[in-house]
Amino acid sequence: MTRLTRIAGLGHYVPPRVVTNHDLEQLMDTSDAWIQERSGIQERHFAADDTTCTDMAAEAARHALDAAGWTPDDVQFIVFATLSPDLFFPGNGVLLQHQLGLGEVGAMDIRNQCTGFVYGLSAADGLIRMGTYDRILLIGAELQSPALRLTTEGRDTAVLFGDGAGAACLEVTGGRDGSHVLGHRMHSNGKYALELCIRRPGAANRPWISKEMIDDGSSGIYMNGREVFKHAVTKFPAVILEVLADHGVTPDQLALVIPHQANMRITEAVRKRLDLPEAKVYSNIQRYGNTTAGSIPIAFSEAVRAGTVKRGDLVCLASFGSGFTWAASLLRY
Ligand code: UT7
Repeated sequence: MTRLTRIAGLGHYVPPRVVTNHDLEQLMDTSDAWIQERSGIQERHFAADDTTCTDMAAEAARHALDAAGWTPDDVQFIVFATLSPDLFFPGNGVLLQHQLGLGEVGAMDIRNQCTGFVYGLSAADGLIRMGTYDRILLIGAELQSPALRLTTEGRDTAVLFGDGAGAACLEVTGGRDGSHVLGHRMHSNGKYALELCIRRPGAANRPWISKEMIDDGSSGIYMNGREVFKHAVTKFPAVILEVLADHGVTPDQLALVIPHQANMRITEAVRKRLDLPEAKVYSNIQRYGNTTAGSIPIAFSEAVRAGTVKRGDLVCLASFGSGFTWAASLLRY
């Protein structure tokens, strides 16, 4: 039997607290009009102080397990993509293994920011195809609100990001006729690493962390928004077209493109480049902001629950972000 990977079930979780653009207007010099015009975002969810990224991932995982008809004992391996782990190390994979009460299964963390879910899917797909595991739990989750500077100094990034988690249960399947992951394309260019990053703490610093670094803001998110935007609008469509060409698929054959939710204007540029109608390019940034590694699995889970994606549909997942990294996966759901 040819070993292939299928998505058995998806789940997502966002914390209940909604923070609107008007709420942010109370904290900094910004406006609902500026945020909506530049990004499309209307509101995002921020986790409560006692919630961790692993807590949100565990909720998303439980929904995915239900959707797949798995019990926790079915999970043989965890792949956890996040840039906002609970600890600097170890990663969230082991924390989730413990929190879900799983056996001593392997757990691997992916540090690829916005492309983390796609990179994670490719890694899990490879492990399943190789025969290493039959069932893998893949997570994309972020708790970013504590790192945001909710002041006028931090407004260029603070208004963009939100918290949330998505999960996918991936299992082995045979035959190319049914649901399966077709393939992936992944790229990076570290020349642009400092255009979107948190520089400190980091082992390149002497000292590793100091009070000055906290005071001068360099332990917060830095983003050169225009530079990111410029690259995103070309790399997103390019990597989608690459993965489609690998498998002889044309954009019109896709039921849905699920892009990483970075900015409504980027999504719109991708849609126009691929000449697709609005209904075929998923967008939920209005409600969640940018949830980094969480955005694709949250969107995918929502789309399946809403019936926008049905079994047998061709779906393309694509992302661009910090690194820079950019990547796309093609699958038959
Ligand atoms: O998932 C990671 C990938 N990230 C992305 O893909 C983000 C890509 N970039 C973007 O989405 C856009 O560049 C932004 C939404 C971040 C910014 O939009 P922009 O049109 O590039 O605006 P800008 O950064 O050039 O700023 C324009 C003005 C500036 O004022 P001046 O210099 O023109 O007087 C900013 O200071 O808007 C000001 N500004 C704000 N004003 C109100 C920056 N942030 C805010 C704010 N509220 N929150």
